[in-house]
Amino acid sequence: MSADVELDGVWIKFGDFVAARDVNIDIPEGGFFSFLGPSGCGKTTILRAVSGFLEPSEGVVRIGGRDMAGIGPNKRPTALIFQNLALFPLMTVWENIAFSLEVRGVGRADRRRRADELLDLIALPGQGEKMCHELSGGQRQRVAIARALAAEPDVLLLDEPLSALDLKLRQHMRTELRAIQQRVGITFIYITHDQGEALTMSDNVAVMREGIIDQVGDGNTIYDHPESAFVASFVGENNLFRGKVTETGPAYAMVDTNVGPMRARVAASRGERLAKGDSAFVFVRPESLKFANGDSFDNVIDATVHTGEFEGHFWQVFLDIAGGDKRIKMSLVNDGSSLGHEPGASVKLGFSADLAVALPEGPLAAE
Ligand SMILES: Nc1ncnc2c1ncn2[C@@H]1O[C@H](COP(=O)(O)OP(=O)(O)O)[C@@H](O)[C@H]1O
Ligand SMILES: [Mg+2]
Repeated sequence: MSADVELDGVWIKFGDFVAARDVNIDIPEGGFFSFLGPSGCGKTTILRAVSGFLEPSEGVVRIGGRDMAGIGPNKRPTALIFQNLALFPLMTVWENIAFSLEVRGVGRADRRRRADELLDLIALPGQGEKMCHELSGGQRQRVAIARALAAEPDVLLLDEPLSALDLKLRQHMRTELRAIQQRVGITFIYITHDQGEALTMSDNVAVMREGIIDQVGDGNTIYDHPESAFVASFVGENNLFRGKVTETGPAYAMVDTNVGPMRARVAASRGERLAKGDSAFVFVRPESLKFANGDSFDNVIDATVHTGEFEGHFWQVFLDIAGGDKRIKMSLVNDGSSLGHEPGASVKLGFSADLAVALPEGPLAAE
């Protein structure tokens, strides 16, 4: 069985400190949903409110339509996996997986059968007799997931479960986790500060900062259509230009920035429309900048090449702009030709208004 999870006007306070501020989210059943945000923004706190280790100060948590108020963690249809998962070292893999069934009094043969099914599910068939220390880090992670799934939760909650693994394994486990979720078909709620994890695995991502959900959407929407300065600066790389709005329309705004006027898309968000005279940020991603060699672009700015870094697949070019307060970055796909722009070269950069977004001035992600 799978269940949806609804957070309805949820506030969580620790004394005067507000860890979650009016969180309203519907997490559809059977999907992979992530909370993404920097360390300390309240992700674990929200997960604890869903799992029942903590009661919200205000608001309602519903799982499968049922109000969870007063229902303890072991009575909820959830299972939780932590970052520092602890498998039982003196038990075999299958005994670890079937532990919750043993607690419930399920007989040995049934436990073993269920453990073997779960070993197939996590792509470790026939590994049940091994001891946990004989497994790799990634295999242990999968066993921890199987152990959580043995209790047949409707919702699996995962609190940064990959953060103790090395980079390569972490990347491999993203694909594994997503595949496991699709095979079991229950709701996964995943929390992470790692945008790569959130974007690759999730059907939907909620971007959080300081107890607030800034935006919820699929990875593409979050990346291409950020609705706040925080989301634009936290998810992926972005060049930021500061300025004042000189003209607005339903789709575009003109912003007089520190490096000249720019035409940019406006976000169709939460009624936060930019008005003439407002302070605004214009964000342009490194991959949206091109060398404007006589082509026509909505926006063209003069820049000086500082350095070009060759990364094989990409050239990363760093440039200075007269009046700019920060060096900007452009990413060019390596098309086999050399870059052709030496440090110190004067160049024109072009970008389309559709690939630039103007947003109200607001908090930015820390660098
Ligand atoms: N039991 C608690 N008492 C007081 N403050 C807490 C408690 N639990 C968490 N916090 C605070 O709430 C904020 C969010 O914490 P947490 O949810 O663990 O963040 P994240 O998981 O996003 O890193 C932090 O500032 C943390 O110090
Ligand atoms: Mg946490």
